[in-house]
Amino acid sequence: MALNVQAVRGMNDLLPEDTSIWQQVETVLRQTLSSFGYSEVRMPVVEHTNLFCRAIGEVTDVVEKEMYTFEDRSGDMLSLRPEGTAGCVRCALEHNLIYNQEQRLWYMGPMFRHERPQKGRYRQFHQTGVEVFGLKGPDIDAELIIMTYELWKRFGIQDQVKLQLNSLGSAQERAAYRESLVKFLEAHFDELDEDSKRRTHTNPLRVLDTKDEKVGELLKSAPKLADHFGAETKEHFAKLRALLDAEGIAYEINPRLVRGLDYYNLTVFEWVTDALGAQGTVCGGGRYDGLVEQLGGTPTCAVGFGLGMERLILLLQTLGKITPKSSVDVYVLGSGDDIELHEAKTASFLRKALPGVRIMTHCGGGNFKRQFKRADKTGARAAVILGNDEIARGSVTIKDLRNKDSAQSEYALCDAPEALRKILEI
Ligand code: HAM
Repeated sequence: MALNVQAVRGMNDLLPEDTSIWQQVETVLRQTLSSFGYSEVRMPVVEHTNLFCRAIGEVTDVVEKEMYTFEDRSGDMLSLRPEGTAGCVRCALEHNLIYNQEQRLWYMGPMFRHERPQKGRYRQFHQTGVEVFGLKGPDIDAELIIMTYELWKRFGIQDQVKLQLNSLGSAQERAAYRESLVKFLEAHFDELDEDSKRRTHTNPLRVLDTKDEKVGELLKSAPKLADHFGAETKEHFAKLRALLDAEGIAYEINPRLVRGLDYYNLTVFEWVTDALGAQGTVCGGGRYDGLVEQLGGTPTCAVGFGLGMERLILLLQTLGKITPKSSVDVYVLGSGDDIELHEAKTASFLRKALPGVRIMTHCGGGNFKRQFKRADKTGARAAVILGNDEIARGSVTIKDLRNKDSAQSEYALCDAPEALRKILEI
């Protein structure tokens, strides 16, 4: 049998052009998160399967159909993480990060879901996630939304993503609602699609976010969750809305926004775009005040979100907001006696004199035409050229590769850094 040397379906390589874009996006994400005072955590990509079952919910699509689960050599049932919240809570509990103290954390990394791959939906995808522990009020919910809005502004896409907002109330309020919703769904059972029929008794709230248009129409006359809200839920939601209004962040209240994971209560939100087709949710999150206790900790309120990096990057590319950057600034080339040695020495000198400037040395010889072709291909801004004359005089010739009209000039090696700074505009 031929060896299968293709990547696993739905799991993508990132090539140098891609990583140049990813690094730019990651930098903006890191800078923004740190400008709000949040700290990074790094969790393993593998956890015990029962962590996800308990946290996300047994009757969610993620746990029922999408996890990569396997038994390891010690007989433990493990899963590749389908999301980051469960692992982050586990990590916070295990290291006593949230006992009597608040935490504002973030993480970035791959997640795995066995979904049907399509544009914007992959089996290995990446999330930047934020999780806050120990803060109860709507001000922190607002902060997370303001933070995501700040991100969209930094990327120049704030007009292309829309905020959908809902409140899921408390567990008790949802339980009361669940009863009246199930009654309604049972009364209209024949009008439901297969998925909604199945969910009526397993996870009825999920019927609310059906994609089926006929069921969607029917749900307009279904009982409303908001009618079961008590004073506390109403006040939390009203305060959150007031804070967003004060920030000038527009939102649409979507009573059918329930999210696909079971741990949420009160605030839930999603940032969606029309520019990506079916997979338009770029970021989603909400409060999950019961999860820490459910996983064995003392009751601790929590709120967070997950941002899909592939979707964000697709959106930035679709809107022409980002382009790959060259990874080389200066290309050192030449021809002459012991040229490799002189090139390497010159490059070392320049790297020391110009910290942060990316300097590539030509390797593999060849005539000048070939060497300049290679220099061009790297996207370098300047070439540093060496020949026997330069070597004898202790100088280099410098050429601006992006400004074809400018003449090349010879400089004493000690003056070369300054000449390069001018060309690189640094
Ligand atoms: P989620 O809505 O399941 O929430 O995922 C968050 C984001 O990850 C989605 O909005 C989407 O952009 C991206 N995403 C999800 N699945 C895929 C996929 N198969 N391919 C590409 N992108 C995908 C969570 O995971 C929660 N842990 C978020 C959270 C944190 N809630 C509270 N704290």
